[in-house]
Amino acid sequence: MKICVILGTRPEIIKMAPVIDEINRRSHELLLIHTGQHYDKEMSDNFFLDLELPKPNYNIHVGSGSHGKQTALMMDGIEDVLISEKPDIVLVQGDTNAVLAGALVAQKLHIPVGHVEAGLRSFDVSMPEEINRMGADCCSHLYFVPTEESAINLALEGYLPKDIFITGNSVVDTCFRNLKIAENSSTIIDDLNLDNLNNIITFTMHRAENVDDKQRLQSIIGALMELKDFNIIFPIHPRTKKTLENFGLYKKFESLPHIHITKPIGYLDFLVLISKSIIILTDSGGLQEEAITLNVPALTLRYNTERPETVTAGGNILVGSDKDYILETANKILNNEEFYNNMKNAKNPYGDGNSAVQILDIIEQSYNNGDLSISSPDNIMTRFNVKMHNIDEDITVSDFEKKYNTTVRLVYKDDKMVFPVEDLNIKDSTVLYNDYSIK
Ligand code: UD1
Ligand code: UDP
Repeated sequence: MKICVILGTRPEIIKMAPVIDEINRRSHELLLIHTGQHYDKEMSDNFFLDLELPKPNYNIHVGSGSHGKQTALMMDGIEDVLISEKPDIVLVQGDTNAVLAGALVAQKLHIPVGHVEAGLRSFDVSMPEEINRMGADCCSHLYFVPTEESAINLALEGYLPKDIFITGNSVVDTCFRNLKIAENSSTIIDDLNLDNLNNIITFTMHRAENVDDKQRLQSIIGALMELKDFNIIFPIHPRTKKTLENFGLYKKFESLPHIHITKPIGYLDFLVLISKSIIILTDSGGLQEEAITLNVPALTLRYNTERPETVTAGGNILVGSDKDYILETANKILNNEEFYNNMKNAKNPYGDGNSAVQILDIIEQSYNNGDLSISSPDNIMTRFNVKMHNIDEDITVSDFEKKYNTTVRLVYKDDKMVFPVEDLNIKDSTVLYNDYSIK
């Protein structure tokens, strides 16, 4: 198989690394396209080095720009490559502009798309990432979702459960594969030369709604200035550095002894840093996942999240940009052991670090069954015919589908929505399904 991976930013490189490794391990042909959205060494090349990734076959060098221009340039470049290279499948990851550009172009060329980390929803369409996620899902063929919650999001939007696979999040693979290597090689903690190693907050921030809004930025920075009982390590995203400087906030913030601003840090050093932190304070998507994977409490500087599992599990609190709430919660973690332990011991909802293997198994199976193709459906009338029934038979989803020639779309069991995986027993459930006997 010829498998194309499209990526363009730091988190995509990190989360696609295990998938790329697995493609190579199975000796498929890898076609790697970098859109060039992130181009600083600290935001891109260093991750290829740390994660021992091959050089991209193509770099489209789109650079920075408005969303429309950046996405259009990516589409233009990706289309040329896909037309000449003709991969069997295109893989995109997450919710950046590369995801939307890659999925849209590939789908229109009738090349099937696998969306890694599909189905996440913040339900906040003012976020560019929400548009990217929804757009990419519209153009995908296989959905690799991290959790049952994201599978249900897609099922509710009408995507067919047979195309949706709960694989966990590949960030857990990356974390687990690299933590030991990082602990053996990184000198970051010594290099930081801190007076206390038990009070480290790793702080990152780059979301438009925080860094482009002076009031929100001031409120967050104001809280951090007062958190003097902590050592706050702030590997600064280039976007955030620019806005802090433009708003005249950078100098005073940087001068405080408990604030340690660094360039963006390479993955291995960063893994060690976050694993040694008492709190991760962030508006990053990936860091909310890594925090719960590494048993570090997360305080998320947002009022919503497309990672609600971390909140319901108890490992993540949405503190928004509210100065008092940030201060109160951070101090509670430092001073209330029970509160800290409860957050720290929240169960990781993102799987056991085996996502890439599952993703490749599913792609290979789909390819071998001849399902990696895009064609018109035989009968769309069945799609209009959705029925609902209470089931009292002792039967699994898969046996029910075979016996009654149906497709189960969603299950309600014990007053909860449940994603219809094949071996789910649906006795005493209400089932939403398509009846294929109607032509
Ligand atoms: C992008 C993604 C976001 C993701 C984040 C990961 C979109 C819409 N946004 O946001 O979802 O969470 O990456 O970090 O795709 N810049 C540099 N050097 C670089 C890259 C960027 O200086 O290597 C500066 C430029 O001034 C640029 C700004 O950062 O205008 C923003 O970069 P951009 O890629 O547009 O968005 P991110 O905020 O990085
Ligand atoms: N990260 C890193 N060095 C840093 C900051 C972040 O290696 O200095 C990693 C972090 O571990 C996570 C990813 O970058 O895996 C998150 O990237 P970012 O916050 O830019 O994007 P998001 O996840 O919000 O899309």
